[in-house]
Amino acid sequence: EEVDGTRTDIITLSSFILQEQRKYNSKYHDKGTSIIQEASGELSLLLNSLQFAFKFIANNIRKAELVNLIGLSGVINSTGDEQKQLDSICNDIFIEAMKSNGCIRVIVSEEEEEAILVDSSGSYAITCDPIDGSSNIDAGVSVGTIFGIYKIRPGSTGSLEDVLRSGNEMVAAGYTMYGASAHLMLTTGHKVNGFTLDTNLGEFILTHRNLSMPIYKNIYSINEGNTLNWPPKIADFIHGLKVAPEGGKPYAARYIGSMVADVHRTMLYGGIFAYPCSRGKGKLRLLYECFPMAMLCEQANGMAVNDKGERILDLTPKQIHEQSSIWLGSRGEIQKYVDFMKQH
Ligand code: AHG
Ligand code: MN
Ligand code: MN
Ligand code: MN
Repeated sequence: EEVDGTRTDIITLSSFILQEQRKYNSKYHDKGTSIIQEASGELSLLLNSLQFAFKFIANNIRKAELVNLIGLSGVINSTGDEQKQLDSICNDIFIEAMKSNGCIRVIVSEEEEEAILVDSSGSYAITCDPIDGSSNIDAGVSVGTIFGIYKIRPGSTGSLEDVLRSGNEMVAAGYTMYGASAHLMLTTGHKVNGFTLDTNLGEFILTHRNLSMPIYKNIYSINEGNTLNWPPKIADFIHGLKVAPEGGKPYAARYIGSMVADVHRTMLYGGIFAYPCSRGKGKLRLLYECFPMAMLCEQANGMAVNDKGERILDLTPKQIHEQSSIWLGSRGEIQKYVDFMKQH
């Protein structure tokens, strides 16, 4: 509520995580279920270490131009991207934070050829895109960090098998978008909550509780430059969005070219975000782009499928940088795509 213009219902990410943990503990304690690992609050510890990494990265993004941190690092990464200096620096920050929190056994990063195995007594594995949208970074467009969290399998000491699993097995996922403010969207499997970094307090503050996407919205977000390389039926579907319905308006096109920014707009306004196969190949990576965004969408009452209409979270990668097509966003809109592909 407002008291002379200042909010007094401030909930920080740290207190939110503890509240969630208490809710989780009380739910299971009542049933007498042993929840040793959760009672230890290890996931809470991990999420707090993640928010430190995001604050550190946000700081680097803000001053990138000033300390000439932009431009190429000269490295080509495993999916053939020209790595930017910021990709590399933010990758190092993220990996150091994950190595030092004692919760992580396996780290997968877009900027690391192989999975990193960490010698710790942790129970979790994490996948990450340290800077998504980095091709735009020199132009000042919003970029972000995307992450997905798995609990390592019972008895595992941390191996590739802990991350080459279907998206259904993720226990948490989210992203932080470094725009005018830093926005963190997080799900631990129970809805989606959004937090905004207050740089004066140095805290992420709850600003979007139990976020839910509109079922329908006439916005589509796709790189039309690839139109001639899509399967023809997909080009037909996108063309159909441009035909205004009787007395209505055609869809609006919005494409930023940074997945985190395009998905953030879709989470807030609704609509369709798609990156179909181009010349038969998917571009976005399953483990650290498609899976986390698909989990967030589904937890916000949305949908996420591939070109064939298969649910993204049902897929299982065979290698850590496996790529996939993706269609995500408002449930009603994605269903239209799935129905169209079935009929034609
Ligand atoms: P990244 O910067 O992590 O390599 O990801 C770039 C991705 C994603 O952010 C975006 O949706 C897509 O590349 C844009 O690809 P096009 O430039 O081919 O549209
Ligand atoms: Mn890249
Ligand atoms: Mn990316
Ligand atoms: Mn990236």
